[in-house]
Amino acid sequence: MSEPNRMNDAIRSAVIHAEALGKTYAEGKLRTPVFDGLELNVQPGETVAIVGASGAGKSTLLHLLGGLDTPTSGEVYVAGQKMSSLSDAARGQLRNKALGFVYQFHHLLPEFTALENVMMPVMLGGAATDDAGSKARSLLEAVGLGHRLAHKPGELSGGERQRAAVARALVNQPACVLGDEPTGNLDEKTAATVFDLMLELNRAQKTSLVLVTHDRRLARRLDRVLELHEGKLRELAQDAV
Ligand SMILES: Nc1ncnc2c1ncn2[C@@H]1O[C@H](COP(=O)(O)OP(=O)(O)O)[C@@H](O)[C@H]1O
Ligand SMILES: [Mg+2]
Repeated sequence: MSEPNRMNDAIRSAVIHAEALGKTYAEGKLRTPVFDGLELNVQPGETVAIVGASGAGKSTLLHLLGGLDTPTSGEVYVAGQKMSSLSDAARGQLRNKALGFVYQFHHLLPEFTALENVMMPVMLGGAATDDAGSKARSLLEAVGLGHRLAHKPGELSGGERQRAAVARALVNQPACVLGDEPTGNLDEKTAATVFDLMLELNRAQKTSLVLVTHDRRLARRLDRVLELHEGKLRELAQDAV
């Protein structure tokens, strides 16, 4: 097979593929180079941890992978589609269909119940209310919140809110979940429970996971661990994590 064809196959089969990816923030005269020339290929079902010191650029990388920000150089492909070639609307649709997001803070909408929050991505995809309701209910049951459907975020505990956020991220059966320190704001025991749940559900749904964490004990449990350091991404051997 020729070199370009092999490259195309790697992109086509990947849930996320980043090529020569670079980001420099520029505000007025202030330029903040974060990284350059990053390569990343995430295959279906694969779980990848990204570790690195505070300020290394982990959140920036995740935003680029999720199409929430635009790279200064390079390309991101999600489910084989080049993000930069899509209209804003098409990119939004692809993001909603192919990706799920979990952040350190839950980002649930405070005025809506847990059920409504989890229904939202399904409704955005054009599904009927009944269909969205039943999907959301089964995901909330899967994260152990079947008895909290009518609670608003303010009426849930921190761990319950994160579990609702996990349910929301998975409800459209995305190809990949992107997590930015999703358990970073929880006590150790609750963090472990939420983390176990994410891994379990991702594996059951065969969803890929790209997880930013500074917790190396958690990182070690994923298939691969990459360290972002001084603008470069390098794979760590499991015994070096
Ligand atoms: N909107 C922005 N404008 C300018 N600089 C930014 C912006 N966002 C992040 N940065 C800078 O980019 C670097 C990487 O930030 P970030 O991706 O948040 O790191 P991490 O998530 O690894 O802690 C930091 O030095 C940060 O100050
Ligand atoms: Mg961050």
